[in-house]
Amino acid sequence: MGEYATLLADAVMRQRAREAEHTARVETELASRVKSEFISNMSHELRTPLNTVIGFAKLVSEYDQRRLSGDQIIEYANLIHDAATHLLAVINDILDISKIQSGKYTLDAREVELGDLVNTAVAGFKANATSLGLELEAVVSPDLPAVRGDPGKLRQVLNNLISNAVKFTPPGGSVRVSAKAGEDDGAVISVRDTGVGMTEEEVKLSLTPFAQVDASHSRWREGAGLGLPIAKALVQLHGGKLKVNSSKSIGTEVIVTLPSRHEVSVSRGRDALLGTGEMNLRQE
Ligand SMILES: Nc1ncnc2c1ncn2[C@@H]1O[C@H](COP(=O)(O)OP(=O)(O)O)[C@@H](O)[C@H]1O
Ligand SMILES: [Mg+2]
Repeated sequence: MGEYATLLADAVMRQRAREAEHTARVETELASRVKSEFISNMSHELRTPLNTVIGFAKLVSEYDQRRLSGDQIIEYANLIHDAATHLLAVINDILDISKIQSGKYTLDAREVELGDLVNTAVAGFKANATSLGLELEAVVSPDLPAVRGDPGKLRQVLNNLISNAVKFTPPGGSVRVSAKAGEDDGAVISVRDTGVGMTEEEVKLSLTPFAQVDASHSRWREGAGLGLPIAKALVQLHGGKLKVNSSKSIGTEVIVTLPSRHEVSVSRGRDALLGTGEMNLRQE
């Protein structure tokens, strides 16, 4: 009887080991599939503008044989400029994403005047929004507390969210960016638009790197589908949360909650040890 129990225990152990091995294999396969999808999307994002640069640079260099007019040359030079600018933005985004994923991302931890940050970010989009026939306003509540964090990264979050709101809202619509005190001394920022909106499924997709819900809405020069995932990751690195509420054809609201500055614990990060003076915020 004792022997039988031992045999049974052995069998159970072996079965568990097999199951664990299977799970690990499935997880590795999934990770490598996600990785290769990422790489294939990434190469597409890099190739498209690069081909524009190569093709039009060649055309311009042959302007004589091709009898190009001055206007045509200027047009092609502008296309090259836009493609190269886009390429740089995509490369920066990809570097950001992989740095964040490697867990080596370091954030500055400083006292941040969120109100100033919000007003400046909104001002930066004003001319663009007006030319698109959109109303854009910033509403900063007087009770907004200062938070602790990396002003450059928080600016990046705001820019990513506002650029989306402006991009996905048809003429006549409005975008409202508000900042107020949240619970427990923290802050809440909301970017709300009356744009095309998303279904629940599309919201999930929008938070996945490189996923663009509707390719026709996002011409290649306007983004690679990394803005929202980066914004979410940066907010989480601050110990905060990013939530997307959206309703098809009605609009979208992205709500960012940042913790009270007292809750952000700061420890020396890798880069700080290398002497850059940057700090690593506690990761969630
Ligand atoms: N405010 C918004 N309204 C509607 N759709 C949005 C909004 N913000 C993001 N999306 C959807 O999520 C996708 C991913 O956004 P993002 O990561 O910023 O990439 P990109 O701006 O390069 O398309 C967008 O392509 C769009 O389909
Ligand atoms: Mg975007």
